[in-house]
Amino acid sequence: MDKDFILPNHVGIIMDGNGRWAKERGMIRTMGHKSAIKTLKELCLHMADIGIKYASLYAFSTENFKREKSEVDFLMDLFMDSFRKEFSFLKERNVRVVFSGRREPLPEKVLDAMDQIVEETKDNNNLVLNICINYGSHAELVDTTKKICEKVQRGELSIDEINEELIQKNLYQDLPPLDFVIRTSGELRLSNFMMYQASYAEFYFPKVYFPDFTVEEFDKAMEEFNHRNRRFGGVKS
Ligand code: IPE
Ligand code: IPE
Ligand code: MG
Repeated sequence: MDKDFILPNHVGIIMDGNGRWAKERGMIRTMGHKSAIKTLKELCLHMADIGIKYASLYAFSTENFKREKSEVDFLMDLFMDSFRKEFSFLKERNVRVVFSGRREPLPEKVLDAMDQIVEETKDNNNLVLNICINYGSHAELVDTTKKICEKVQRGELSIDEINEELIQKNLYQDLPPLDFVIRTSGELRLSNFMMYQASYAEFYFPKVYFPDFTVEEFDKAMEEFNHRNRRFGGVKS
């Protein structure tokens, strides 16, 4: 790798387009989700190998519960299986898994599998994988506000002490800001993904559906990141 090549410290991936990927192949939508797991495994290995420090993956939004029950049930089983089996390689690769999102109303079996992988990887110190399940920025804002208000109510905190640092510390996870957000499938929106954390992120919208978002596609995205001129409100040539 070129010595001047910069990797984003924190990458967000909105893994979109699984349903359309399957439909184009004459398959049912859920086959797209299944195929996405294979893509995701390769991506995780790659991100850990090249030295990405933080990756946030949008797997299921608070709004995705609006989908047909059969698709939601399929996804919940897929999450459970993935955390129990498919992603066990993360333990050996020194990846730490954390989750963002509301636990309610996720099924107990999914929560157990989530808790298990968090526990098993908690001492790892390579890539931090923040998996967003039943996640929404609006819900996070509500939950963060409640957490802070409860501390004020208990007398642990005064209103004057509420500042940006405190809000950051009370988000679902206290991670560095997003540098680069990738949304596959060509849609140009955030769909409630990490709005607070993405305030100065660069955005990239490849046309490919997530199951086709290969390691080569990821490297293309990293290349694109290196062509961005980030200013953070200041002035830079
Ligand atoms: C993303 O793919 C996966 C989830 C939202 C769970 P979609 O299921 O949204 O696929 P499209 O966008 O309908 O093609
Ligand atoms: C966003 O995709 C959520 C995930 C990728 C998990 P959606 O497919 O749910 O978003 P919309 O409905 O097209 O905005
Ligand atoms: Mg979609």
